Amino acid sequence: MNDQFKALVLSQENGKVEHQIRQLTVDDLPEGDVLVAVKYSSLNYKDCLAVAGRGKIVRQYPMVPGVDLTGEVLSSESPDFSPGDQVLLTGWYVGERYWGGYTQQARLKSEWLIPLPEGLAGLNAMAIGSAGLTAMLCVMALEDQGVVPDQGPILVTGASGGVGGVAVALLAELGYAVSAVTGNRDNDDYLYQLGATEIVSRTELERPAQPLESQRWAGAIDTVGGEVLARLLAEMKYGGTVAATGLTGGSELHTTVMPFILRAIKMVGVEVTTCPVPQRKKAWARLARELPDDLLKQIFKVVSLEEVPLFAERLLDGQVNGRVVVDVTL
Ligand SMILES: NC(=O)c1ccc[n+]([C@@H]2O[C@H](COP(=O)([O-])OP(=O)(O)OC[C@H]3O[C@@H](n4cnc5c(N)ncnc54)[C@H](OP(=O)(O)O)[C@@H]3O)[C@@H](O)[C@H]2O)c1
Repeated sequence: MNDQFKALVLSQENGKVEHQIRQLTVDDLPEGDVLVAVKYSSLNYKDCLAVAGRGKIVRQYPMVPGVDLTGEVLSSESPDFSPGDQVLLTGWYVGERYWGGYTQQARLKSEWLIPLPEGLAGLNAMAIGSAGLTAMLCVMALEDQGVVPDQGPILVTGASGGVGGVAVALLAELGYAVSAVTGNRDNDDYLYQLGATEIVSRTELERPAQPLESQRWAGAIDTVGGEVLARLLAEMKYGGTVAATGLTGGSELHTTVMPFILRAIKMVGVEVTTCPVPQRKKAWARLARELPDDLLKQIFKVVSLEEVPLFAERLLDGQVNGRVVVDVTL
């Protein structure tokens, strides 16, 4: 039980965040009622900020980052889980306030865990990860507001990123016409392969907007915020809905009430970290059913724990398409 295992550990010295692969034993792990042999984690935007020591993501050091994980229960004091169970964790501030998934073993609170959904392999669950779960929650938010495919195209911003890529694939699979916004036109082929019907240059969306522009979008999934969100609000069709979930382009939003009061548009916030369990189980079940394996395969690549810092920098620099799975056993 006290065998050593590998983890990526962040520490802070004189205000500078450092990362190191360390050998730990279970005695080093924080409290919790379930011990999990982690197989896969993933790299989300938040994880990249944490590993790079940016953005005040990590609340205390030392910290094992990684907001997502999947693996097998080794031992459990909870009646809800038994050794051998395959489990999945996304969010709950794991990897921020509590030790996360960049480790071969993790001691966790049972209320953070859900069983790995029927028909979903651990690798695919992490290819989806918090980013893909967010994309599904955004799609569900549009559906809840009555957005259906024959109303017109859905705009997805930050389309070559993790949330955006899964959103494009899901929407296309559900029969929507998808207009994918990207800052890098080298991504066109990738986005068409995911099912985009049209590619829109980010610069086009960054232009200052009049309070009301020509009506273009029946719905939008926005991962970018800032100027792009301000413009797309002005371009929404009458009655359209925007699911807002990100801020890679800025957290400020300068807009007017005009599209809301003259075109009855709606903006819905989507939050994934503490999303209630029934909603997350529903979203995961849909992801397992509705995201085809062959599409998912195009979205992710697999890296080792040792490669996490390099890929975190690359992702923050916009050099990585789609999702990054971390196989902690490599
Ligand atoms: N991953 C999650 O679990 C999760 C959950 C909820 C919310 N979010 C939020 O959603 C956003 C995207 O997360 P992600 O994991 O998809 O990140 P990501 O994989 O890094 O993708 C972000 C994408 O945004 C675009 N982008 C980058 N810099 C930009 C800029 N300055 N202005 C406008 N667009 C820019 C790029 O797409 P193009 O090159 O195609 O333009 C990039 O690929 C973040 O703000 C994140 O906090 C993420």
